[in-house]
Amino acid sequence: ATERTLSIIKPDAVAKNAIGDIIARFEKAGLQVVAAKMTHLSEEKAGGFYAEHKERPFFKDLVGFMTSGPVVVQVLEGEGAIAKNRDLMGATNPKEAAPGTIRADFAETIDANAVHGSDSAESAAREISYFFGNDEICPR
Ligand code: CMP
Repeated sequence: ATERTLSIIKPDAVAKNAIGDIIARFEKAGLQVVAAKMTHLSEEKAGGFYAEHKERPFFKDLVGFMTSGPVVVQVLEGEGAIAKNRDLMGATNPKEAAPGTIRADFAETIDANAVHGSDSAESAAREISYFFGNDEICPR
């Protein structure tokens, strides 16, 4: 089925000038960008996004990293978009990411891991509405 998923190109990948290379991978895999914005997250916005990790030991570092520079937030649409995006990204820890995945090619550490992608349909719905109003999404 056609799905939507939320993608974030994180501060490390933006700093590396890898925005275009990463979006090209989404597009070449058949995902379409239906919403996009660049933003520098506040602590409040980043903390709210990752609220489910609030009690985890890495929460503070995660929020610190995600607010360290601008990010590119996008909605990707396509057949099986949630799983497809996760396949393109590779494992959360770049050291475990399969060759040819975004994290294997662009990421260094589990915090600076280049991209975020929704992990389920429920997360996708929540994450998309956290960043975009309906009038900011452009179906094609
Ligand atoms: P992301 O997909 O954005 O979701 C939560 C982020 O927390 C994750 O990518 C990692 O960048 C970061 N993180 C740091 N340490 C861990 C960990 N031990 N397990 C999972 N995520 C971690």
